[in-house]
Amino acid sequence: MSTKRIAPSILAADFANLQRDIEMVNQSEADWFHIDIMDGVFVPNISFGMPVLKAINKHATKTIDVHLMIVDPDRYIQTFADLGANVLTVHYEACTHLHRTLQAIKAAGMKAGVALNPHTNVNLLEDVINDIDLVCIMSVNPGFGGQSFIENTYTKVKKLKALITEKGATTEIEIDGGVNDKNAKALVDAGADVLVAGSFVFKSENPTETIQNLKNIVS
Ligand code: DX5
Ligand code: ZN
Repeated sequence: MSTKRIAPSILAADFANLQRDIEMVNQSEADWFHIDIMDGVFVPNISFGMPVLKAINKHATKTIDVHLMIVDPDRYIQTFADLGANVLTVHYEACTHLHRTLQAIKAAGMKAGVALNPHTNVNLLEDVINDIDLVCIMSVNPGFGGQSFIENTYTKVKKLKALITEKGATTEIEIDGGVNDKNAKALVDAGADVLVAGSFVFKSENPTETIQNLKNIVS
């Protein structure tokens, strides 16, 4: 039994049929809900905010993995805990005092995640890796769904996996952006634990089957 997880990204769901799409994920073999929060400052796009997450949480029965693409995320840690986030991921590039931010996320009862933009070297996490529950390696530039996968991601995953092993950490590795049935296996082989998939799931003809297919590939 594989512990590898699939996390459909709600950013690619049909917002006019959000409850239907959430129920689909509930009934599927997916493991997590991936929720992208964008502020139009850290990334050049605005997605949705607290009221929508509250509505999602009303129906979602699986782990809620919130990916904050916002500046100064410390302001909203308690808010996202109250909204039901189980994993809260902040961007390395948005945190001046990352260590403090990670402790605050954990103190609020959530798992602490750090996302890295494609240009950010995984070695920058060396001194803090034992404090991180999840590293989200961005395999596209954050801000939009439906972009194509950056091939250098495999090298980053391997380097990060080696760092985690060397430090004796229990950190999980998540991949976010352009994930599909062509790259899923290689990502898991490189060391990935969680695969986020937005467009590939929700724009497919049968999202439930697409999730099952991804799950089979990584198992
Ligand atoms: C991009 C978001 C992703 C996005 C992935 O900034 O962080 O989670 O929804 O979408 P796809 O799978 O379509 O690349
Ligand atoms: Zn994301």
